[in-house]
Formats: sequence, structure tokens, C-alpha cells
Amino acid sequence: MRVDDFRLMFGNREFVPIVIGGMGVDISTAGLALEAARLGGIGHISDAMVNTVADRRFNTKFVKDKLKQFKFNVANIDKSIVKFDLGQLAEATKLHIGKTMEAKRGPGLIFVNCMEKLTMNAPRETLAVRLKAALDSGIDGITLAAGLHLGSFSLIEDHPRFRDAFLGVIVSSLRALQLFIRKTVRSNRLPDYVVVEGPLAGGHLGFGMDWAKYDLATIVAEIKAWLHAEKLNIPLIPAGGIFTGSDAVSYLENGAAAVQVATRFTVARECGLPEDVQQEYFKASEDQIEVNQISPTGYPMRMLSKSPAIGDGIRPNCEAYGYLLDSHGSCSYITSYNRELEANPGVKRLSVKDKTCLCTQMRNFNLWTCGHYTYRLKDTTRKLEDGSYQLLSAEHIFHDYQYSSDNKIALPA
Ligand SMILES: Cc1cc2nc3c(=O)[nH]c(=O)nc-3n(C[C@H](O)[C@H](O)[C@H](O)COP(=O)(O)O)c2cc1C
Repeated sequence: MRVDDFRLMFGNREFVPIVIGGMGVDISTAGLALEAARLGGIGHISDAMVNTVADRRFNTKFVKDKLKQFKFNVANIDKSIVKFDLGQLAEATKLHIGKTMEAKRGPGLIFVNCMEKLTMNAPRETLAVRLKAALDSGIDGITLAAGLHLGSFSLIEDHPRFRDAFLGVIVSSLRALQLFIRKTVRSNRLPDYVVVEGPLAGGHLGFGMDWAKYDLATIVAEIKAWLHAEKLNIPLIPAGGIFTGSDAVSYLENGAAAVQVATRFTVARECGLPEDVQQEYFKASEDQIEVNQISPTGYPMRMLSKSPAIGDGIRPNCEAYGYLLDSHGSCSYITSYNRELEANPGVKRLSVKDKTCLCTQMRNFNLWTCGHYTYRLKDTTRKLEDGSYQLLSAEHIFHDYQYSSDNKIALPA
């Protein structure tokens, strides 16, 4: 069997059952998502650090404006005053999403990955703006990620598109899904799909540091059994470590509606990572992939151990970014940074080991988050004469998932 023998059914619409997962701060670019949609699948963009992404894409000045407004506070430990302008946030979101939707061609869909952990010093207000602006911009669907999202449906239940956009959630356990559904029942609307993300995924993990004890297939089976018992018919989309078309087929044969994949696409030409970073992904060996706790979100995160972000002690950039400030204007990186600053007076380049300035490091592509099987990427391409690896087209990778069999991976022409 091949992935192409299956179809993802949303009502009476059918799609190639391949979803490219959201990869924050413009690693899953509009260009990558547009390819997935053109090929009949589903692509994600992400609204993480959307002001920054909009500036880069459209030459706007959202970050500069915010920095100008709060520059007086740069040396202040207390960041509670540093707030996002909600109008600008909506504008940036509408630009990023609206322009992507305008460019969409083909039979597939484009969703946006929306992480609750981007608390932005006003969690409820900023999340409401992000979700509403996404719906206003014509996004096909929203995938609620990085958080339980227990209040997210109620933030948008009055929006005219609340019942016609596809709304889904990422969970890593049956318990998280049960909590979500118990809450959303109040909005009289179930999610249209559930992405079940296992412990081998890239980005933040919905597990503790004991992630290795868990297994995607087992979690999917538990969730499927519970949905069946509750007579709920919600498409399940497993994610995390699905590296070949055959891996995908094994889930589809067991009743998954589609699969969500990401790591294979980190070495696509359309991916937002700079090419020298993509070469690091290709070169990585298994022992260079680690799960650590340096993300201030509190979730473990998987990354290459060579990431320049690890141990870096850059001054917090909350006046320009500040996406992880909690509702009190705090971020655990600020605490760690100030501790080191106090302990090392006069030192020019601080090192902060326990936390990272996630905004700055992700913005600058210095935190190389990746899936567990990144070390297998070198087997998906050819090594060139100069020792580098050939980048792939998103179409090539997509079609390899769609048409390959027997655990084979097609090399590029
Ligand atoms: C580089 C990278 C960045 C990611 N960033 C995000 C993100 O911002 N939000 C999110 O919900 N998931 C994120 N993920 C998880 C993916 O969307 C996806 O669910 C998962 O990685 C699939 O597993 P795979 O990479 O083994 O195919 C990221 C994954 C990678 C590889």
C-alpha cells in the first residue's frame, strides 16, 4: 500500500492525507505551505512572532515601531510595561495570512499553527486577536498548538467563520484531548481534526523529560478507542517520527485520517531555514540530537546540540519581541539572564546555560529545533562533490511520502 491509496475526508471533501506541520518562526514558510496545498495536501504556516515574519516578508516596520515605543525600558528588569499593540498584531497577522491565502493554488488547504504558549504579556487578548485575524484573513483552518487551549474556542465562537473554518488541536495524550473536548462542548462545536503528536516530534514536546517512555502508536490507539466509545467521529492525524511513506501507511491502515510530518521538509528549498543551517540538519548524527529544558515555555524541546543558542547569554530582547512574556510580564530567561549578570559583573559575553532567549534565537535561526529522526535526513538525498548535501524540492519530499512503498525513500534526480 502507498499513502496515495488513502484520502483524508473532511465532510465530502477529500485531500491527499499528508499534512506538513507548522514550524515556528517561519521555518514552515508560506512557500512550503503553498506547495502542500498545490499538491492536494495540507500545509501549515505559523503565526509565531508574526510581526517579525511580516517585516521580513513585506518590509513593514512592526518590530522597529515596538522597539521605538519601549526603548526606554531596555535596561529594566521589569518588562510588565512591554505590551503588544493589538491593532498592529492584527495587521501583521492579516498580512502574513492574507497574502498567503491570496497566493494559494490547487486543491489543498492552508492552516495556521497557533501556539498558546506565546503568551505575549496579555495571553487572552493577544490570542483572541491572532485567532480572529486568522479567520478574517480567510485561513482554511487553525491548528491549536503548544498548550491545552481550553478557552480558545470561546474566544472565537462569535466569529462568522467559527463553524466553517477547520479547527483542530494538537494533543500528546488522551487526557489532554478529554479536557479540551469537555470545554469545547460548551461552544457546541467539536474539533474537525485532532493531531496526536508523539515524543519523536520536533519543536516543543507535550511530554516531560521522560518522553522516551511514550510511544505514538499507543497514544493514537488509546485516543481512537476512547473516541469510539464516546461515539465521536473526529479524524485523527498522528505526528512525530513518521519518516517514510510506509511509516505513514501503517498509521493510515490503522484508521488514521492523515499523517502530519515536518522533519523531512526541513531540508526542502522552500523551507525557511538558511541553507547553512539545513546542511547542519543533514550532517547531524543521532548523538547530536537532544531534548533539553532551555525553552522558557517550560516544555522540553528537541534540538541539535550544536545550536548556537545553547549556552548563549544574549540580553533579552523583549522590547522588540517579547512573545513569551507571561501575564505578569515575566519570562524565565530574564530571570536566568539577570542571575548570571549579577554573578558576573563586567563580563562582556555572558553565558546562560539553563534557559534561552527563545524569541531572539528562533528569529535568528540559531536554535536548531528538529525531530528525532533528523539524523536520517542524509539518507534522503545525494552528497555533492563539495561534501555538501543536495537540497530537495518540497514536491519531491511530498511525492516520496505519497507514492513510495516498502520503506523506500526516493533520492532526487
Ligand atoms: C523545525 C521544527 C519546528 C517546529 N515548530 C513547531 C511549532 O512552531 N509549532 C508546533 O505546533 N509544532 C512544531 N513542530 C512540530 C511539527 O509541526 C510536527 O508536528 C512534528 O515535527 C512531526 O514530526 P516529524 O518532524 O518527525 O515529522 C516543529 C517541528 C520541527 C521539525
